[in-house]
Amino acid sequence: MILIQGPLAGISCAPFRALIWRYSQPAYCYTEMISCKTLNEGSAALNHRYVAKDPSEGPVCFQLSGNDPQELAEATKRATDYGADLINLNCGCPVKKIRSKGAGSSLLMDPQRLFQLMRAMKQSTHLPVSIKIRVEGHGPDRFHQTLVQAIQDAGIDSLTVHGRHWTEHYETPCHYQHIQFFVEHLNIPVIGNGDVADFASLQRMLKTGCAGVMIGRAGVGQPWLIAELSAKLAGTEFLSPMLNERKQMFLDHVQGLIALMGNETVSLMQARRFAKYYARRLAWQKEFQDAVNLCETFKELEEISSRYFI
Ligand SMILES: Cc1cc2nc3c(=O)[nH]c(=O)nc-3n(C[C@H](O)[C@H](O)[C@H](O)COP(=O)(O)O)c2cc1C
Repeated sequence: MILIQGPLAGISCAPFRALIWRYSQPAYCYTEMISCKTLNEGSAALNHRYVAKDPSEGPVCFQLSGNDPQELAEATKRATDYGADLINLNCGCPVKKIRSKGAGSSLLMDPQRLFQLMRAMKQSTHLPVSIKIRVEGHGPDRFHQTLVQAIQDAGIDSLTVHGRHWTEHYETPCHYQHIQFFVEHLNIPVIGNGDVADFASLQRMLKTGCAGVMIGRAGVGQPWLIAELSAKLAGTEFLSPMLNERKQMFLDHVQGLIALMGNETVSLMQARRFAKYYARRLAWQKEFQDAVNLCETFKELEEISSRYFI
């Protein structure tokens, strides 16, 4: 079974992925979404955060966002040169700023244009090219059939389906029947995505018949999750990390960010986005997050972490 750590803007850069590889063996991990304009026009320094890979990492899928065939073709070549192992087009982002540029989930409204983008990407690299979509419409219908045709005609290598419409928030449960539709109508691997956080939810996703499963939010603060799920699939025992190991993971994540970005203050601001996930299911999760929000130096962060993770 293929297990993948998915893209999370603001989180899934090299230090996060290196932690996943330290504890798990995913098929591959994603970068954060990279705008093809930024990749094509930005300086090496500007792009560093998005394209940097850690020496300890396995395969990385670079996720691009854009809506122009030529720009995407150029960005695909650049991603290939930067050392991507796979390349993905974001067709699921629901954020207004991205949709208003005609990118992200808005690409699903025009399968003919999407076909041109996918073909331009395929023609610009020797690497596997995939797309990641949300679902459209109210059920597996004619629209999805058109999408299936465009994906097949473009020669795309795999499809990831996050089983929600772009207007739906995380409170709406994943629509497994839409994922199953793509599994049944495409002859390429379909990766199911949405709400997988433990073995029970993994089994629900596997009922769609998908060839692989992508983990999103649940991987943050739990870099061992893919290893745990793999062990459960294999029927072997898995020992969850102890509190002091979890503390070290959090600190290593932040220290990795400081090394990557060369800026302690910016890295500490970013740590505020994910600190609480390292304290999942712990009674003091909120207090810990509040304390992290006040930290101004890495040394303070170490002291606070030592106070909580005991
Ligand atoms: C903070 C955050 C950032 C995300 N960034 C991206 C992104 O850059 N590209 C993308 O395709 N999906 C992105 N997603 C969506 C996830 O990759 C995933 O599809 C979604 O969270 C559903 O999976 P999950 O239920 O396992 O989290 C993001 C989600 C979150 C919560």
